[in-house]
Amino acid sequence: MGERAIVLEAPDLGCELIRLRRWQPADAPELEKAWMDPVILSDSVAPENRSLRDARKWISRTDVRRRAGLALDLVVADAGSDALLGEVSLYRFDKARRAAEMSWWLAAEARGRGFATRAVNLLAAWALDGRLTAVLAEIRTSNVKSLELAARCGFDLLRPADGSTPAVFARRAQRG
Ligand SMILES: CC(C)(COP(=O)(O)OP(=O)(O)OC[C@H]1O[C@@H](n2cnc3c(N)ncnc32)[C@H](O)[C@@H]1OP(=O)(O)O)[C@@H](O)C(=O)NCCC(=O)NCCS
Repeated sequence: MGERAIVLEAPDLGCELIRLRRWQPADAPELEKAWMDPVILSDSVAPENRSLRDARKWISRTDVRRRAGLALDLVVADAGSDALLGEVSLYRFDKARRAAEMSWWLAAEARGRGFATRAVNLLAAWALDGRLTAVLAEIRTSNVKSLELAARCGFDLLRPADGSTPAVFARRAQRG
């Protein structure tokens, strides 16, 4: 894997309301809760095993996944209290195209206030500032909130949905 992988450092990003930070062991109960959320379960990828123990294990492996070029998983945290609001990730790195997919979710109580918009914009802008040339997102046509979020964050339709295959959206680096 080593030199063939795209290995991104964990960035220090934030704004007045949120910051993106690494996962910590203390986040495990909130992660377990998110994995049980019916909206997150139906619209995004949650692992098969979703106990508190599994959440702790998943968190303990985040830096291993990052260093292996498998995923950059970041907590969306409240800028004041540091409480977990959600997650943004880059994964499925494509070295040839210098692209990656992005995923996102917010805890139920954190929705409807623009936190995901801020988090996705922060991570996409950082990734597209010389690190990647495109960030992709696979979104089902039924996932209206994610479609709206992607549009707000500058993602354009790359490939329409086809049967059960989700649509693919892309945000590209600015040229010139
Ligand atoms: C997708 C998801 C993260 C979107 O959450 P969200 O709360 O709609 O997104 P935001 O945090 O950007 O908030 C947008 C809402 O806040 C409002 N808002 C308030 N201030 C805002 C601001 N400064 N900027 C943007 N929106 C703002 C918007 O009007 C919008 O309101 P609406 O829900 O009435 O349309 C959430 O629905 C989710 O976790 N879904 C499950 C996981 C999932 O589907 N993941 C993606 C798989 S492809």
